[in-house]
Amino acid sequence: MEYTVDADHQIETWQEVTLVYNAALKQINTKLEILNDEFQHVHQYNPIEHIKSRIKTSESIVKKLKRHGYESTIENMVKYINDIAGIRIICSFTSDIYRIAEMIRLQNDIHVIAVKDYIRVPKASGYKSYHMLVTVPVFLSDRTVDVKVEIQIRTVAMDFWASLEHKINYKFEGNAPEHVKGELIECSQMVSELDNRMQELNEEIKALSGER
Ligand code: GTP
Ligand code: MG
Repeated sequence: MEYTVDADHQIETWQEVTLVYNAALKQINTKLEILNDEFQHVHQYNPIEHIKSRIKTSESIVKKLKRHGYESTIENMVKYINDIAGIRIICSFTSDIYRIAEMIRLQNDIHVIAVKDYIRVPKASGYKSYHMLVTVPVFLSDRTVDVKVEIQIRTVAMDFWASLEHKINYKFEGNAPEHVKGELIECSQMVSELDNRMQELNEEIKALSGER
């Protein structure tokens, strides 16, 4: 909530919010496609399995503003809501996550505002993912706006866990029974173990086939 970008008064209507944040998603999506293609060209494999992106609905933006005690204004949306534009990058191996994060960080026009590594330090729920809050410039006819985008990078296994956990929490409105929470934490440890073993196996296969 604390990351503000100097985009005040540059976006004034909901239509402009949609336009500008959609443009930001397009910019990042294109960058990721290019990186993935180049990676395929150099290393003969794609680090990215797939990408999902979305614009937060006006209803959830309003709800989040209210939850944090802010009035529902366009100015407050732009200032305080960091995940109006969200991109989720799903990859095969944990090592791909850090590779992709580094490639994003090295892009000259992308500014990394904050990073949360929930892989090194998972959330109490067991949630794992690598989060980056970045800004990307969107060039309009009369001005350039730096737009915030929340990027979540995770493995297929982490994504599987997160989507199930999300559904369960939704069902129980955030108050899942203790044993269910315990099971989820245990599953999350199994996810880590699976990710580690798959990565080791992949390294072994690469070594056997003479790749680096
Ligand atoms: P909000 O949770 O969006 O208010 O932001 P925050 O400042 O707490 O950021 P955080 O990095 O904790 O979470 C941002 C996003 O990560 C969420 O909107 C979810 O998509 C995802 N996320 C965080 N924690 C969990 C979790 O425990 N389970 C699942 N399934 N997703 C989570
Ligand atoms: Mg949160």
